[in-house]
Amino acid sequence: LSVDASPQTARKMPDKMFGIFFEEINHAGAGGLWAELVSNRGFEAGGPNTPSNIEPWFIIGNESSIIVGTDRTSCFERNPVALRMEVLCGSKGTNVCPSGGVGVYNPGYWGMNIERRKGYKVSLHIRSSDAVSLTISLTSSDGLHKLASRTITGGKKQFTNWTKIQFRLYSSQNNTNSRLQITTTKTGVVWLDQVSVMPSDTYMGHGFRKDLASMLANLKPQFLKFPGGNYAMGQYLRNAFHWGETVGPWEERPGHVNDAWGYWTDDGLGFFEFLQLAEDLGASPVWVVNDGASINEEVPTAIIASLVKDVVDGIEFARGGVNTTWGSVRAAMGHPQPFKLDYVSIGNQECWMLYYRGNYQKFYSAIKAAYPDINIISSCDKSTISASNPADLYDVHVYASSANMFSRTSMFDNTPRSGPKAIVSEYAVTGNDAGKGTLVAALAEAAFLVGLEKNSDVVEMASCAPLFVNDNDRKWSPDAIVFNSWQHYGCPNYWMLHFFKDSSGATFHPTTMQVSNYDQMVASAITWQSPKDKSTYLKIKVVNFGSKAVDLNITVTGLESGIKSSGSKKTVLTSGAPLDENSFEQPEKVAPVLSPVADAKQQMGVSVSPYSLTSFDLLL
Ligand code: AHR
Repeated sequence: LSVDASPQTARKMPDKMFGIFFEEINHAGAGGLWAELVSNRGFEAGGPNTPSNIEPWFIIGNESSIIVGTDRTSCFERNPVALRMEVLCGSKGTNVCPSGGVGVYNPGYWGMNIERRKGYKVSLHIRSSDAVSLTISLTSSDGLHKLASRTITGGKKQFTNWTKIQFRLYSSQNNTNSRLQITTTKTGVVWLDQVSVMPSDTYMGHGFRKDLASMLANLKPQFLKFPGGNYAMGQYLRNAFHWGETVGPWEERPGHVNDAWGYWTDDGLGFFEFLQLAEDLGASPVWVVNDGASINEEVPTAIIASLVKDVVDGIEFARGGVNTTWGSVRAAMGHPQPFKLDYVSIGNQECWMLYYRGNYQKFYSAIKAAYPDINIISSCDKSTISASNPADLYDVHVYASSANMFSRTSMFDNTPRSGPKAIVSEYAVTGNDAGKGTLVAALAEAAFLVGLEKNSDVVEMASCAPLFVNDNDRKWSPDAIVFNSWQHYGCPNYWMLHFFKDSSGATFHPTTMQVSNYDQMVASAITWQSPKDKSTYLKIKVVNFGSKAVDLNITVTGLESGIKSSGSKKTVLTSGAPLDENSFEQPEKVAPVLSPVADAKQQMGVSVSPYSLTSFDLLL
């Protein structure tokens, strides 16, 4: 393996080469990264017609003790449904309430993870013309053991108008499968709405589950593309992601059915929160706008104008000054400074649809007129882009078997070098050998990324898909990060991404590799500077996609200063078995193993394990 590290052949790689693509799929956000513990907090999931289904809320008590339903008496205009509880048993009646009372409970997203001594911010809206005594508790999954509770009481006049109650609960015990209960033993009618329980220690205090957000931060993503995917489109337009419905106070958001992936979302993780997440991760937001296309419907170009205006308004929400209509809404949400939104993707992957190109032109012209610096991403391929159909970047999605993905290491080798560059915003190995995230799938994706590094003069950005899966609602496999209410682990491809996290903005060096009678290996080399100690490293990555161990002679030429004999390290991702996966039981069965490289030098012999990704970080 020869590495030409001379300045003459070196090339700077794009600053935003590797990022992440977040889609609301597999409960990635609702019941995942968004730390809210209550599901269907506004009782809107059953639809606007009442009485409606209140799932996943359950009733505590029987028909002779409580009647629970919904009506449209909420104080929130955009989400009018509220829960009505008519308590028949209780202090004034002969009908004695069961001990512990009657009411409702919410198990959250497959159980709430309650941790000892951690604070939980509880918020709910109450209305009643009767005297009220409501006990709000976090309990074990059967309701028998209380972890923490607070009783709210009031006379007949206290809650005649909707009243917001907020307090913190602290648990004395850990319980990974808890629920929230709201119970009473007092006869009367009480309405509830917008019931929320948020852990108080979220990532940067912005509502993201700390463990999951840290997994993202550890990848050093340079961009965050959101919110999908098919989620951005919806099966039907009414269920697409409409950014304007997801901003403002959380209680006022209507929520919507994510019909692309079959579940309700309260939209706690809305447009503002996505922009905030990007900022918190130090990543550039890449907003996938709904361009009038859902999976089954399309808005004709003749009537696309209102949607175009809506998207321009969305950009104003992100970037406008505090005196603008939408910038003031953002400021009221606590972010007077504009977000740095520089990338907008017109649609997801619908170039083939009838009105895409006509609609695209309208979006392009309107956005460029208002925000000339915004980079606009087309869903069509490079060959369709011209002066009359312009784009700054074109989007590529690659889903393939592992063998096919490995071969795509050369996918961009023959791409014309001029014209718009690619953002490969969705790539993944799928199919039999991908499993729920196998080693071999990760290696194939590594080979693909090596190819992108080599072609980083025509590929500007790349991100894998999907990022997250809640193990209780697996709609798509494989995914990079697996979690439930309290655990998480990275799949081999999550760990593989760590090998590329120093590449954005690094210097690429050409390599040549020859291994006799074996075509299962690819390699790339970069130099990068550690922001921590400012040391410079030559990083050589070698993917061995096959079953042979290979002895490799590495020769580095063209270095201005030599390789230091100590301080170099080697990181290997392998378990030896191509179909190995990680799991909650064995979260690091396939994870990087670091070791020092003794006596590193410009000519050295190394051995490369079968089915492995190896990185040699040589200190310069
Ligand atoms: O990543 C899963 C899905 O694959 C995305 O929603 C869609 O864009 C692609 O087809």
